[in-house]
Amino acid sequence: MIVLNPVVTALAYLVAAVLFILALKGLSSPKTARRGNLLGALGAVIGVATVFLSNELDHIAWILGVVVVGSVVAVLASNAVQMTQMPQLVALFNGVGGGAAAVVALLELQHADTLGFLIAVAFTVFVGSVSFSGSIITFMKLQELMTTRPVTFVGQQIAMILVVIGALAGSYFVIAQADYTWAVTLMALGLIGGVLVVLPVGGADVPIVISLLNALTGLAVAASGLVLGNTLLLVGGTLVGASGTILTQEMAKAMGRSVTNTIFGAFRGGTSAGSTEMSDRPVRSSSAEDVAILLGYANKVIIVPGYGLAVAQAQHTISELQQALEAKGIEVVYAMHPVAGRMPGHMNVLLAEASVPYEVLVEMDQVNPQFKNADVALVVGANDVVNPAAKTTPGSPIYGMPILNVGDAQQVVFLKRSMRPGFAGIENELLFEQNTTLLFGDAKDSLTKVLGAVKSL
Ligand code: TAP
Repeated sequence: MIVLNPVVTALAYLVAAVLFILALKGLSSPKTARRGNLLGALGAVIGVATVFLSNELDHIAWILGVVVVGSVVAVLASNAVQMTQMPQLVALFNGVGGGAAAVVALLELQHADTLGFLIAVAFTVFVGSVSFSGSIITFMKLQELMTTRPVTFVGQQIAMILVVIGALAGSYFVIAQADYTWAVTLMALGLIGGVLVVLPVGGADVPIVISLLNALTGLAVAASGLVLGNTLLLVGGTLVGASGTILTQEMAKAMGRSVTNTIFGAFRGGTSAGSTEMSDRPVRSSSAEDVAILLGYANKVIIVPGYGLAVAQAQHTISELQQALEAKGIEVVYAMHPVAGRMPGHMNVLLAEASVPYEVLVEMDQVNPQFKNADVALVVGANDVVNPAAKTTPGSPIYGMPILNVGDAQQVVFLKRSMRPGFAGIENELLFEQNTTLLFGDAKDSLTKVLGAVKSL
């Protein structure tokens, strides 16, 4: 088998690293995101191939076997998963990355010879394990296999403090004595720590924690690059760590939170405001024809897309409705909330699928002053991102999150299937307002009926 010389290996890693950077650049805009993704994948293929070609590997059949199994599982999972379940998949992949880095570092402990190596092992084992178990809990929250609300219990803070003390002691023994038993203990403490960190995070804060765990996985992978003496892992992990940290801060800012408040907020109490029960308070409901009349005689309509639009896969129908209204001379824009849906940029991706022009997608800060000039705010499958409790109810899981001011519009129309609350599990007072009307049903069915009625006006 050919073994590449070190210069060629270093050059191949450099090319892969540049591709990763170009990938991140591409991912910063929906227009270039697809190309960015492909460049990143190409960088990863070059990186993996270089590892095979630049080392005399033992157990090659086993390694290839595992690569094939992993690839088949990833392809099947990615094809089977619905667009709305993508964040869960990302959480799982992220957790697996952190877990893999932790296991590799644990196994490499036997080769540890320098202080730097031992520090990198202790760091990777602990942080990779936190990332693994934290991501699994995030997955369960997003998949609604457990409550999406903050979970707190008596003694949780003490348990967290004990984990931190144990981790410091464990790290000391791993670094001072290269002690394998302590390394395994450190891994167990990391797993417990990940669960304890994510359990109290709920409602609107889950997106921030996904991004934080992603940054942690990046750091664990970077440290595993030091353990394995692999430059590309170091560079790739650092890029993930840095971009994850920036994304975490940006999302926390967009949600009006600090990162510490996101993680420790529930301990300060009061996050249980609101109800997960279906409300039986009376609301005003309308037919598709009534909604078509409201829309058809408006001057300005603001569409607020949310998670339900993705569930109903109604992006093409909403785009047709937008065009039908524009054909009648009505101004239509979409109000884009940074955490509408279930992943960053979810609504942008969804609307791009239906070729909705970027010019009519207006970010929250720009669109909020426009609601008072809008005749109709058409809220399609959004709930938390328009819930005034974020401003009026201290202690609510979404308190402090900036929202879209749809209540300022002349009329508000909600398209939803029932009186169930949104992701944060809290009632929305806006549903009961005088100027609000509800059109019950799956968003795609409702929009199809409204579209038909608008065309025949
Ligand atoms: P949500 O508050 O989750 O509300 C979704 C609404 O869609 C619900 O009112 C639901 O009511 C309705 N719906 C669901 N399926 C529907 C269908 N087929 N047809 C019509 N309506 C349907 O969504 P949002 O306003 O977009 O807010 C997002 C929430 O998710 C925030 O709390 C955010 O923090 C959280 N989150 C966001 C992210 C990111 S990064 N975007 C990640 C994780 C969590 P019915 O069930 O009655 O139909």
